[in-house]
Amino acid sequence: MRIGWPAGLAFGGDYNPEQWPEDVWSDDVALMRRAGVTMATVGVFGWSMLEPEPGRFDFGWLDRAIETLGAAGISVCLGTATATPPPWLVSQYPDVRPVTADGVRLEFGSRQGYCPSSPTFREHATRLARAMADRYGTNPAVKLWHISNEYGDHISECFCEVSEGHFRRWLADRYGVIGALNEAWGTRHWGQVYRSFDEVPAPRRMPGPGSPSHALDWRRFCSDALLDLMLAEKRVLQEVSPQLPVTTNFMSMFYSMDYWRWARELDVVTDDAYPDPADPHAHVDAARNYDLMRSLGRGRPWLLLEQAPSAVSWRPVNLPKPPGVMRLWSYQAIARGSDGAMFFQWRAPRFGSELHHSTMLPAAGPNSRTFREICQLGSELGALDGVAGGRIDADVAILLDWDNWWALDAEQSMPSVRMRWQAALRPFYDALYELGVTADFARPDDDLGRYRMVVVPNSYLLRESDAAKLADYVESGGHLLVGPFSGVVDEHCRAHPGGAPGPLADLLRVRVEEVWPLTEGAGVAIDLEGSGVEARIWTEWLRADDADVVARYRGGPLDGMPAMTRRVHGSGVAHYVSFLPEDATSILEPALHDAGVRATGRAAVRGVEQLVRGTKAASYLFLLNHNHTAATVPIDAPGTDLMTGAAVADAVELPGYGVAVVLRGAVGTRYEGEEA
Ligand code: GAL
Repeated sequence: MRIGWPAGLAFGGDYNPEQWPEDVWSDDVALMRRAGVTMATVGVFGWSMLEPEPGRFDFGWLDRAIETLGAAGISVCLGTATATPPPWLVSQYPDVRPVTADGVRLEFGSRQGYCPSSPTFREHATRLARAMADRYGTNPAVKLWHISNEYGDHISECFCEVSEGHFRRWLADRYGVIGALNEAWGTRHWGQVYRSFDEVPAPRRMPGPGSPSHALDWRRFCSDALLDLMLAEKRVLQEVSPQLPVTTNFMSMFYSMDYWRWARELDVVTDDAYPDPADPHAHVDAARNYDLMRSLGRGRPWLLLEQAPSAVSWRPVNLPKPPGVMRLWSYQAIARGSDGAMFFQWRAPRFGSELHHSTMLPAAGPNSRTFREICQLGSELGALDGVAGGRIDADVAILLDWDNWWALDAEQSMPSVRMRWQAALRPFYDALYELGVTADFARPDDDLGRYRMVVVPNSYLLRESDAAKLADYVESGGHLLVGPFSGVVDEHCRAHPGGAPGPLADLLRVRVEEVWPLTEGAGVAIDLEGSGVEARIWTEWLRADDADVVARYRGGPLDGMPAMTRRVHGSGVAHYVSFLPEDATSILEPALHDAGVRATGRAAVRGVEQLVRGTKAASYLFLLNHNHTAATVPIDAPGTDLMTGAAVADAVELPGYGVAVVLRGAVGTRYEGEEA
């Protein structure tokens, strides 16, 4: 399906005209035009105004708002308005309110206050979605459906009896007979053998640690329950307006929803990204999240649907973005595959809990530095049409599996609460970033053959079938690097016989005899071909049976023992890293070199991110200076700096937080459906 917005990069933001008298709207649209806005997201929280009483719709205001935007040539990304149930629905059906793990039913008063499994909520939400689709599904200004908002943000799980019943049906579908569940969960432990699915509770607060298998299936269920709700709306929209693409906005690398399962249901992946200006590492995490968004869409362009023009209002201390940073971070998303840069939100509100959130048009009006920066960005993006649709080639894939994330981040009964998926990912992603290597994220069961190297920061949960795929990948020439605490349990959280790395033991030829987690502040030195690496958070008592030891622990109880191994298998290579490195660059650099992956970063200027995004017609080199000081960046091929129109030969000068987009010849891509 073609992405719905007009040619070029989308630029604009959430627009809530219902919060303003209509005589302000013409001013809004005039200023949007001045800023170069091409798309506005409308109606996301409009339910109580669109259906002020049960079954009585008032579309007048939305008709006029869409008409005003459309007349100005601004496209509409239209919310289905189901993100907040109206007060009448909640007071008429109090059971639609969600219940916490402690049994507290939450009051009305914020947003998203509904039980994901409530048939009442679903019925009313799909009824509204149908009314919206009937009314606006063929409106020429509407280009994209925006279903609900950030599923799982405030409420990702509900423990009411309706949810519990839904969970039991979900389990019955999965296991068929209760004996299969007992077997999968190992309920003989602590005497939990169930006689029927009706005895299985939602994992509410319990006397002590619960079953990890129970917790894992609950997480899967909660993601599926919300997905089901989203699909119910999607079906209605597709039935009424099959020509319009649908999306729902993701929240970057978000724990509670298995975005692999979600993304395949969307015509376009969209993301809400709120990097913290107070965090010097924020741009690296943002790069990681954008790589994930691109990968969720299988390489297709995605869209940054929300970001803050400056400060947010939901952190304890909310720092504004210094001049230039909003522009820089917008280009970062575009460089990593976004076909636009959108914001939350257009005009500063006069009331409500987001009063102190920055806006494209601040309360101070257009004569303000944020609005000036917005106008600059809007006019620049208007001239970068050619970037839209461009792809990004990656030679490296990082394995991400939500089942593993949920199993590893279990709250109880683990060797260390410090060993978390994001903690395991961080050193490996950061090293790739520092080395200038672009990586995709991939599922274990994807076709990995097109990557020269696959990095598995951790796969505590590993299915036999996925391990077999990884072994095949290496056999046929792939380079694999597996991080610590991998191959421990199967898809039900049952230990693999023989211990870790379980089904990877044959490939890696190592055995983990014991895990040795480290306390906060503790580190262990690693001898790695002369370079110093330090282990943090995690080490292991490792036996290398038939693999080359490339690094050993130095000092501490594991002194002299193998820390990292390498083994040639078939025409590929498999590495095992038994610790979490503080910094993984000296681990990855030789492994990447071995795999034939070109790392451009080390030689370039620190803090300057470089990306190439290409279409069939042209290739665009993005240079992003995350330093507040100026930088001179050498480039390896001449081109035209699209910001200045000047020809550049061998270097580009960037001011602090500066950006350059250099147009060069075409590059090939290797994505499905596209010829190189
Ligand atoms: C997002 C949400 C928006 C707005 C924004 C503020 O999570 O989708 O509606 O609340 O945060 O940062």
